[in-house]
Amino acid sequence: MVRIVEVGPRDGLQNESAMVPTAAKIELVDRLSATGLRTVEATSFVSPKWVPQLADAAEVFAGIARRPGVAYPVLVPNLQGYERARAVGADEVAVFTAASDAFNRRNTNAGIDESLERFAPVLERARVDGVRVRGYVSTVLGCPYQGAVPLADVVRVARALHAMGCYEVSLGDTIGVGTPAKARDMLRAVAAEVPMPALAIHFHDTYGQALANVLACLEEGVAVVDAAVSGTGGCPYARGASGNLATEDLVYMLHGLGIATGVDLDALVDTGAWLSGILGRATGSRVTRARATA
Ligand code: HMG
Ligand code: MG
Repeated sequence: MVRIVEVGPRDGLQNESAMVPTAAKIELVDRLSATGLRTVEATSFVSPKWVPQLADAAEVFAGIARRPGVAYPVLVPNLQGYERARAVGADEVAVFTAASDAFNRRNTNAGIDESLERFAPVLERARVDGVRVRGYVSTVLGCPYQGAVPLADVVRVARALHAMGCYEVSLGDTIGVGTPAKARDMLRAVAAEVPMPALAIHFHDTYGQALANVLACLEEGVAVVDAAVSGTGGCPYARGASGNLATEDLVYMLHGLGIATGVDLDALVDTGAWLSGILGRATGSRVTRARATA
């Protein structure tokens, strides 16, 4: 069994140039939770000055129909974001930093260590409130500003997030430059310090390597994979970043390998096709494209 963390409503929509109506965002989350996905990252409580696309996070979160058994984590960069998320009933949040200081400064106006300090009160409050916290490490396979990122830096930040109390640490190839052997070596190095069941992978597909990288990491034993329906996604503060691995393509591969996901691929393909209609452009999923012409 692989658990898929669907990040389309957050990672996908944060990078859209057009404003997506709030009602469509809510419908997207609800359609995704109806496909059998158990984790749907719903939105992001970052500064609306930094990411205006998700300025309606509170309305979106308040509007979704929460299904029992489905987790709806939301991104929070600081205590202010945590409080906004809690005010509308979020019970799982995700904090995010990077293995590259240069990227983290562009993305959050803070160095890595400063961002970890910002998270300490968030984790403290979350512990008291019984809120689960996921952690992201960006630029694990390369940085648009720094270039190569030493493995030791990835390991250090992943270990720090886990030690602070993040139940899961998602390792992000933010700009999709990784290749399978590098992805595998990176995961191996992190898994030597953080238990594999507490690790997830999050690969953008800029260079078309994401599915191959996922396969290499599955062989290492990872069992949680992030993906975005229709291959949406990207970080507005990562030059050259493009879409995530499309969830449809991930599900197709996993089912082909005989690995259960609990996801109804047909319903997911319908959702992806619907979303590309809303966004007014072609889907980034090869599976959805193949189904449309079959
Ligand atoms: P800052 O400007 O240094 O923050 O930004 P500040 O604390 O100085 O506050 C400045 C203003 O923002 C103030 O308002 C605050 O109230 C407000 P003003 O007084 O000027 O009116 N503010 C907030 N408002 C609402 N919610 C908040 C919040 N925080 C401050 N939570 C900050 C620092 C971290 C806030 C900013 O840099 C930020 O929001 N960055 C987020 C960027 C982002 O969302 N990037 C994409 C997500 S990460 C990603 O995509 C990678 C990932 O997918 C993994 C991968 O692919 O690698 C996760
Ligand atoms: Mg991402």
